[in-house]
Amino acid sequence: MKRSLIILTSLLALQTKAQTTHDWENPAVLGINKLPYHATLQLPSKWKECKEIVSLDGQWQFHWSRNPEERPTDFYREDYDVSKWDKIAVPGNWQLQGYGTPIYININYPFMRNRPSVTTEPPKDWTAYENRNPVGSYVTFVDVTKEMLSKNLILHFGGVHSAMYLWVNGQRVGYSQNSMSPAEFDVTKYMRIGRNKIAVEVYRWCDGSYLEDQDMWRLSGIFREVQLWVRPLVHISDYHVTAVPNADYSQAEVTAEVYICNTGKKKATVCPVMVIDELSADMAEVQINAGDTTKYVFHYTLDNPRLWSAEKPNLYPFSVELEDGNGNTIESFEYHFGVKKVEVIGEVFKINGKNVKLRGVNRHDHHPKTGRYVDDATYEQDIRLMKQANINFLRTSHYPDREYLYELCDRWGIYVMDEANHETHGYGYANSEMGEDLAWQNAHVDRAESLVKRDFNHPSVILWSLGNEGAVGPNIEAMYNKVLELDNTRPPFYDSDRRYSSIWDDSYLYPDDLKKNAEEVKDKPFMMREYAHAMGNSMGNLKEYWDVIYADSSICGAAVWDWVDQGIDSKIVNSQIVQYLYGGDFGDTPNDGPFCINGLIAPDRKPHPHYYEVQYVYQPISFEQYKDTIYSYDPLDAFRIINHDQFTSPSEYDITHSEETYKSEVLMNVEARLKEDKPWASKGFAVARQQFVLQQWEFPTALEGKPAKIQKTPQGLKAYFKRGVVTIDGTGALSSWIVDGQEMLKAPLEPYFWKPENDNQHAAHFAERVAAWQDAAQKRKMKSLRAEAGGTCVKVIAEMQLPVGANLTLTYSINDDGKIMVDMDYKPTTNNIPLIPKFGMRMRMPADFNAITYYGRGPWENYPDRKQSAFIGYYKMPLSEFETEYIHPQDNGNRCDVRFFMIANNQSTINIQGCQPLCIRAWDYGEEDLEGVRHPNEINRGRFVNLNIDGNIHGVGGADTWGKRTLPQYTIDGNQPHHYSFIMSIDNVKN
Ligand code: GAL
Ligand code: MG
Repeated sequence: MKRSLIILTSLLALQTKAQTTHDWENPAVLGINKLPYHATLQLPSKWKECKEIVSLDGQWQFHWSRNPEERPTDFYREDYDVSKWDKIAVPGNWQLQGYGTPIYININYPFMRNRPSVTTEPPKDWTAYENRNPVGSYVTFVDVTKEMLSKNLILHFGGVHSAMYLWVNGQRVGYSQNSMSPAEFDVTKYMRIGRNKIAVEVYRWCDGSYLEDQDMWRLSGIFREVQLWVRPLVHISDYHVTAVPNADYSQAEVTAEVYICNTGKKKATVCPVMVIDELSADMAEVQINAGDTTKYVFHYTLDNPRLWSAEKPNLYPFSVELEDGNGNTIESFEYHFGVKKVEVIGEVFKINGKNVKLRGVNRHDHHPKTGRYVDDATYEQDIRLMKQANINFLRTSHYPDREYLYELCDRWGIYVMDEANHETHGYGYANSEMGEDLAWQNAHVDRAESLVKRDFNHPSVILWSLGNEGAVGPNIEAMYNKVLELDNTRPPFYDSDRRYSSIWDDSYLYPDDLKKNAEEVKDKPFMMREYAHAMGNSMGNLKEYWDVIYADSSICGAAVWDWVDQGIDSKIVNSQIVQYLYGGDFGDTPNDGPFCINGLIAPDRKPHPHYYEVQYVYQPISFEQYKDTIYSYDPLDAFRIINHDQFTSPSEYDITHSEETYKSEVLMNVEARLKEDKPWASKGFAVARQQFVLQQWEFPTALEGKPAKIQKTPQGLKAYFKRGVVTIDGTGALSSWIVDGQEMLKAPLEPYFWKPENDNQHAAHFAERVAAWQDAAQKRKMKSLRAEAGGTCVKVIAEMQLPVGANLTLTYSINDDGKIMVDMDYKPTTNNIPLIPKFGMRMRMPADFNAITYYGRGPWENYPDRKQSAFIGYYKMPLSEFETEYIHPQDNGNRCDVRFFMIANNQSTINIQGCQPLCIRAWDYGEEDLEGVRHPNEINRGRFVNLNIDGNIHGVGGADTWGKRTLPQYTIDGNQPHHYSFIMSIDNVKN
């Protein structure tokens, strides 16, 4: 029985093999007639003015088939009429232009795993069942002149997902995969004077897709620029510039290796020229036989070089040119280099000799409308926002981005970990299947080679990453060796097989474990290539991480996961409302839901509240107060400056300060501001700010005045004051609050301990762990309700028992002016009570209470473990801004350390004053309305305003979204007593 089974499986295996002989299901075929990879020749910002580049971007004819069998097989022929075909934007992803289905999936492959086949039958409900391997057929036409045809013509594809064939005028030119790197083909011999037909056939999946299993939207098509390069017959095919300072940084050796090829039919003589700003040109005559490529090396010595760093992105612009024998320029490219040194010395990572800290973020190339194609303006916006957030390190997770991004990092100053387009997570983290299967070795190496070769000349690159969540074994070793062979100035990095990484990565640790693990690793610098999973309402305890990182010189930094929410704008699917779609919204199966919504900024680049926490914790300067000199108003006397940067002195900033006084509280805000305009912020922009409380707020402790009058009624105890009456019912709740004839409440003020989960808490089983609290208040048992007369107020005391095993006493003190002081006292009677989600009360008011004014932390949302960046201040905003609208609805909107809070409609203002700092959340919906809701528009809003007035709330959590918990210091122990109080009143009633 066993034996026949084995035979059957091997027969099946044979059969699969026999069926998969396409180039796109064959790991031995990575390209056909592809030109070698090379460095970006011209700075991307200068592509438009580059004489050699003809852009083919624009509207192309397009046809989509759901699988290879149904594709038009002869569309590339000149007699095939494509005039009736649709038009599609190139660059672009076809799924976002109406064809096929975007799929968002994290770890698993979106097609049936059976390498190298990508067309094996998957379960019937998978998107890939019906659409087994969609094919996009693209056609465009390009006019070629006689002059152009006398040159060398190269078609350049910046990125095509996942595999492509190319035909020109009906003739097959070649094939390419490795979707995030350029593919180039010499098409000279296929072109003619006049109109030329360019036909491209793109496959959604190919064997290369086994190496492209990144956690992201799986999108297809020609998604980066297409260019026709019209090149001189003798031209520069590649050049690599290195500029490394000597030991004492007094000089730098600049070496430029320039490759010149002769595509003509005759031997040629040319002069390569390199002109560096400030340095004279070097020239020599070079002879090249037809068909040959030769290398010419320039050497320069720079004295007192200005070093490049993210802090001081000093660049040396240069041009590299070819002249003919008579001094005429044949071609000329402009670029820049930066002088810098990257070193790993023992367990310390150094840039230019200094223990630089990498304050990082991971970024996917994502745009809500154009998917994997991100335009230049959005790149600029991203890098500007990063610089403003004091981010100095970017990991291009998990593949090379478009070239312009690196140019921006060079110019504006961001260290880049440039990552190869390689992830095989579908075989498991650190799998050996892909790492040891030698049939896949070249496919791995191809991705390392294309990475280093293209981006070699960007000074911003400090580390080459072999990929993410890939294999272990010889295929990785081969990638590693390839990187070392191509570049010895920037070390390789890899997360899954640490033998092949210059830095030890251990990601998503708690701060304590970061400290411990980094201490244990002695032979390499340590980093968290990913940490602080920023999904939804998240990013707690960021400061705790950086306390650890700054204290240990062997930790070189950490990068937040991740930059931008990968939501897709619903308008692209004919929706009237703009909202962001995620996994499953397109019927994509299988999918990973909202797990792609992990950004510091929304898809439209609007910062989330936690963006500002990164900005704050990453700031290069912090201030420390000298207690005895707080009133010396020269801030440089009163505050010690701690500088976290290595190449910038605090004196390079304007240090400003301002004092704010609210009643008894005196606040001092200190800032370090830019002295001059930068490309990413104007003069005066605060790169660092910090708040000091010089004199504390005086919280009220009791009521003054005369007592209200108490009356016992069947509904409970009623307290009458000048302008109205409140009722405390038999459950201890304040069930009615009438002022000037108006009922203020839609639902009672009563104890309430529940808080819906945020994304971080879901997999940590928050709701299950603290489930006892969900209806603990509702199931309270009254022990007694009584009134006590007093001097300034009447007291209504409600004593109750909570089913979790605790006593709760609510005391309402009410005076004749209608002020109500609410006091809640909690005493556990057992010792196995779970954490309290929030300690406080809730009430509901009519929906027109929507104008908020408060004094506390803001203006943005903050929670106990994420409130550093939210300064105490006096803030005013509509309810809609007080809430945070998460793409995946969840708990939101808290403000901490609230001294007073007012919420008003046209007639009345409800005024709440804390007797100690309060946590407040206000929504135009209830907790129950968040249950099971996928998108903000599904929330049932507008029936009331839901107001939570709390003494404390469980923090958002800050490590990951798959099990780690909020740090204990930001939780509320159910086995300890708790107590808080506040005073409510109605103000400004217009008659
Ligand atoms: C990481 C992975 C990222 C992403 C993240 C979760 O382990 O490298 O690509 O999947 O988890 O959002
Ligand atoms: Mg992954």
